[in-house]
Amino acid sequence: MNEMQPTLQKSFLTRPVEQVSGQVQVPGDKSISHRALMLGALADGRTEVHGFLSGEDCLATLAAVRKMGVNIVQSETTTVQIDGVGLHGLQAPASPLDMGNSGTAMRLFAGLLSGQAFDSEIIGDASLLQRPMERVATPLRKMGAAIETNAGRPPLIITGGRSLSGIEYEMPVASAQVKSAILLAGLYATGQTTVIEPAVTRDHTERMLAQFGYPTQRVGGRVSLIPGGSLTSARIEVPGDLSSAAFFLLAGSIAERGELVLKNVGLNPSRTGFLNIIKKMGANLKIIDHTSGEATGERIGTIIVKPARLRGIDVSKELVPLAIDEIPLVFIAAALAEGQTVISGAEELRHKESDRISVMAAGLRALGIKIEERPDGAVIKGGPLSGGKIDSAGDHRVAMAFAVAGISAQAPIRILDTANVATSFPGFADTAGRIGMSLEVADD
Ligand code: S3P
Repeated sequence: MNEMQPTLQKSFLTRPVEQVSGQVQVPGDKSISHRALMLGALADGRTEVHGFLSGEDCLATLAAVRKMGVNIVQSETTTVQIDGVGLHGLQAPASPLDMGNSGTAMRLFAGLLSGQAFDSEIIGDASLLQRPMERVATPLRKMGAAIETNAGRPPLIITGGRSLSGIEYEMPVASAQVKSAILLAGLYATGQTTVIEPAVTRDHTERMLAQFGYPTQRVGGRVSLIPGGSLTSARIEVPGDLSSAAFFLLAGSIAERGELVLKNVGLNPSRTGFLNIIKKMGANLKIIDHTSGEATGERIGTIIVKPARLRGIDVSKELVPLAIDEIPLVFIAAALAEGQTVISGAEELRHKESDRISVMAAGLRALGIKIEERPDGAVIKGGPLSGGKIDSAGDHRVAMAFAVAGISAQAPIRILDTANVATSFPGFADTAGRIGMSLEVADD
């Protein structure tokens, strides 16, 4: 994709440090940035997005939207103007839409494209080609969409021009991506669409639809959308990504000295599971300047973190969905905590950018930690973390989690295959360096 900057960072070398301190502004929220581009494109009029995450995943969404005839100007790295074409204004792309590493982009587009008059094909990188897509294809087919997968995986081939009907769908897995795909298709359906979630999943799609003047209705775990409306352009302020802030929340907790102040962090209650987990482990976090989110649709706040002695806990099933992307960090927190941590109900982690349970277990084992891998999680015994070499399996969050672990290891850690950090956190290594972490990026 021409719009993407090729990235050179390929491996990290971390060295232990005693202190991290300073102020951190993490980049914009990935989930919200994807949705701002998609809904901005479908709205009538010009949408302005501030705080946009200019990482590879969201740039893949941006390129795809442009390919369907939408004029988008990225006037600054974090500022984007989208000239919305309305719900029925997208044009057929001339070639397949490449979502790179992004499962969110692929699944949300599956819903959106199911409702279009034209055919489309969605492709992705080697990691994305391994990820399950029947979870979106099945409910979309129930709505009348024509979607082909490759034995349940990408590419997705969507035949346009189908008339969709609203459905009531109880999701077998708690997935915000599946929920969002169905709601986006529901914009094009006849009749009401209702999605029932087995556990709370992030609700950025619902909040942002309301920002665009298209509210959904929620009763308990049921979200409904009535078709026939239109989206009005909006000004979207994207908060800092809590999933990116989480790396520094752990960094500030495990260092021996210092204090980190994380400004303008998104605190949507469907995302704050990690805060609750590390608080339960003993972390010293304070939230100040907390807004209700009424003006922007999303709550934000400043988080202050100071070192603390962490202890092992049981991370049970109900804590997982609200911390789904932060579980690799929970593995690291557990390895550095006193006592044992049991993570259960986290089988979805096996279907992320890598099989995060097995990749985290292999990495911690290579650093001398006793860990028992289970189908839905792990039992981790805290202990000294040696230095060594670990493979991130090209998973951005695994790479950054081990980079943070390096603060408290007994010797340097080399982390391989880290280029994909640019998908969600461009500038991670610079930010880490500014707060005193020792993180070298090598081009190998
Ligand atoms: C996302 C939802 C989550 C999360 C992903 C982003 C979203 O996936 O892991 O990083 O933006 O909707 P699932 O909803 O499939 O668990």
